[in-house]
Amino acid sequence: MSSHVTTAPSAKTASSVEHEIILRIEKVCKTFVTNDRTVHALDRVSLDVRRGEFISLVGISGCGKTTLLRIVDGLEDADSGMLSLDGAKLEGISRDMSYVFQDINLLPWRSVLDNVALGLEVRGVPKAERRERAMEVLDMVGLAAVAKSPPYTLSGGMQQRVGVARALAIRPKVLLMDEPFGQLDNFTREALQVEIANLWEKLGTTIMFVTHDVDEAIFLSDRIGLFQPGPGRLTEVLEVDLPRPRTDYDVRAHGRAIELRSYITEHLRGARGPVQ
Ligand SMILES: Nc1ncnc2c1ncn2[C@@H]1O[C@H](COP(=O)(O)OP(=O)(O)OP(=O)(O)O)[C@@H](O)[C@H]1O
Ligand SMILES: [Mg+2]
Repeated sequence: MSSHVTTAPSAKTASSVEHEIILRIEKVCKTFVTNDRTVHALDRVSLDVRRGEFISLVGISGCGKTTLLRIVDGLEDADSGMLSLDGAKLEGISRDMSYVFQDINLLPWRSVLDNVALGLEVRGVPKAERRERAMEVLDMVGLAAVAKSPPYTLSGGMQQRVGVARALAIRPKVLLMDEPFGQLDNFTREALQVEIANLWEKLGTTIMFVTHDVDEAIFLSDRIGLFQPGPGRLTEVLEVDLPRPRTDYDVRAHGRAIELRSYITEHLRGARGPVQ
């Protein structure tokens, strides 16, 4: 690792500020055994997520980021370890969390509005209220005008916004986002980054965000967790001590952003473990 970046980012990890913890992940392990291989996807991953923060997880392909989000959401069970949300043990699928998948899978036979209202329907919210709440979040993501349209008439960027609206409609305590903008072109991606940053500032929702894009992580995050593969481990959590709102200036040109980017890139380069 080059000498000019070794100390700078990690020096900021020790913060004297007391943070309220919303989600506690303690020593989570997960191994997948299939016919031809055994993969240690997560090895004793621990992380305290602060209430209201935007935290990103960055690491090379196969280091367990999605597995961790799926365990947090209850879609997958951990082999060992503990998870708690607001002090209560997390077991099974949590009603207080929502997940924005990379592939958003909107239901083609339902209108945009009814897609957004889906999570509310599952939670037994009465029809009039769920329509009202779905409209409210569609309005927030700038899509109120297409509420009645079928989702396949929307562009990829618009569909991704519907996915975000669907996740926000249930008013989650923690919003989990797994490479939500990965399939979009650069311009649409940048526009959505700004939108999600604005929404996050407005709503104060805690967001756990997975991305391969280092600049995206720096632009959006309060903290960035670095993963290493083989076995998947969370090796470091960096504070992104850049001022907000970051839309006010070119974050990429900020000295601190440059420092963080080269540190994270070095980390990712050095993380080429066994192919998993
Ligand atoms: N259901 C499963 N059965 C077997 N192996 C799995 C399963 N899910 C994940 N894995 C393995 O666990 C490891 C971690 O996978 P995971 O999808 O969490 O990685 P990731 O960090 O999200 O990668 P990417 O950046 O490519 O999305 C990989 O080696 C993957 O092949
Ligand atoms: Mg993944």
